[in-house]
Amino acid sequence: MSQSPQALKSEILRLTREYSALMHTANRPGLEEAKPFTPGETTVPYAGRVFTEDEVEAAVASTLDFWLTLGPEGEAFEKELAQFLGVKHSLLVNSGSSANLVALSSLTTHKLPPQKRIQPGDEVITVAAGFPTTVAPILQIGAVPVFIDNDPTTGNARVEQLAAAYVPGKTKAVMMAHTLGNPFDVGAVLEFCKAHDLWLIEDNCDALGCTYSLPLERAAALGFTENSPGLPADGTHITRYTGTWGDLSTQSFYPPHHLTMGEGGAVNIVHRPPLKTYAESFRDWGRDCWCASGKDNTCGKRFGWKLGELPAGYDHKYIYSHLGYNLKPLDPQAAIGRQQLKKLPAFIEARKKNWETLRRSLAGLEDIFDFSLPTHATGWTTPSTLNPQPSAFSWDSTGCRTDCSWFGFMLRVRPGSPFSHTDLARHLDEHKIGNRMLFGGNLLRQPVFVQLAKDRPDSFRVAGSMHGADEIMNTAIFIGTYPGLTSTMLAYVVETIHRFVRP
Ligand SMILES: Cc1ncc(COP(=O)(O)O)c(C=O)c1O
Repeated sequence: MSQSPQALKSEILRLTREYSALMHTANRPGLEEAKPFTPGETTVPYAGRVFTEDEVEAAVASTLDFWLTLGPEGEAFEKELAQFLGVKHSLLVNSGSSANLVALSSLTTHKLPPQKRIQPGDEVITVAAGFPTTVAPILQIGAVPVFIDNDPTTGNARVEQLAAAYVPGKTKAVMMAHTLGNPFDVGAVLEFCKAHDLWLIEDNCDALGCTYSLPLERAAALGFTENSPGLPADGTHITRYTGTWGDLSTQSFYPPHHLTMGEGGAVNIVHRPPLKTYAESFRDWGRDCWCASGKDNTCGKRFGWKLGELPAGYDHKYIYSHLGYNLKPLDPQAAIGRQQLKKLPAFIEARKKNWETLRRSLAGLEDIFDFSLPTHATGWTTPSTLNPQPSAFSWDSTGCRTDCSWFGFMLRVRPGSPFSHTDLARHLDEHKIGNRMLFGGNLLRQPVFVQLAKDRPDSFRVAGSMHGADEIMNTAIFIGTYPGLTSTMLAYVVETIHRFVRP
């Protein structure tokens, strides 16, 4: 007897779950502990996909539906992500790098007033050490990146260099990342942007779920009076997720990030809805039309426009107002992302907990390592019976606070240590412990920028000393905090580091 398609689909999905539960145990959340692990034999990744049969079922179900291009799952994901963050819109793209390119490109549109539009030769302030595609789009749109230094302790911008980087009439935007899940000094950056009427683009690719708190008065002066959805009020601060303070922000959903859909990314349109139309146009071939995939006449006047020098009534679906790209992901990716979003709160907490475990367990090695601090923290005290707080940070006098859902646990090998960060990285690697340097280190030292300095010396500017970025490049590595780590894995990581430092 032949089965109905629906019955067949249910059976396929039932079997899919069964298969995934058997096949993908290594990818389950670390909390479950039941993951297979043999110290020294099983790799402890620095990050990776964490999923259960929910994601695999969603991918298969969406593939069976075979819509393929961005469709119902994509639309739902965009709404759900925007709701989680409390932003006006989220727009899915196929990577975090694409998100940065689309976000910045959208600010080049002729639809903006001339003083706000980023034109070739205009300047965008950014940070020297980090991931290359936070910076590459600045050059790709014909603008000039102006580099400021990193604070090696936080990994974030040294905001005291912002003023020196600013050129009236030329500087149009600030674009920088919240490094490794550590929010940058949002208060100082926003006040700088407000004073000079600049755009702020937050590269939030490594920081989904991190929060930044500004004292009420400073927040109100910047126009912020509400917390992000679900974040409790404390009566003294406005607390919002990173990625919700600037004009635009970006996410990556590549596997090491806070949630994954394989490849993928998003542009968040924080306050100003028209930016969505511009971003969407750059994502979708540069078109003027904003119909979703598979729809034909959303504006109700598909044959009623007269734009450019085209004849009146030319099909709006094929009218182009920008030199665009096609940077859309597939619908099955969004289906995976929707399942991941449900797990996001647990993922965020797991990253915090894993960082805390590593910090406590490595506390005896302060003579060898400088450990990262959250922005605005001035120190970290080892918790004791007298001081059992989970995170015993002391804070600077600004009143601002950060709560990091760490992308990784960064440490710097102190000067005079008997080994270098490369020696440590090599040792961890030999013991199958995943580790990374802070992405490209001081990007200005990368072959691409060395070559650019020769080919087109005016294509970028350096605003001050880059000692911090160099220090990060020369001394820092990070190890994993991702939610797939079990306490057994973390204990192995800690023991291996202790043994290396004090054999
Ligand atoms: C800060 C930052 N921005 C952008 C990206 C690019 O994201 P994707 O790999 O999805 O292109 C990354 C990648 O890890 C990143 O760390």
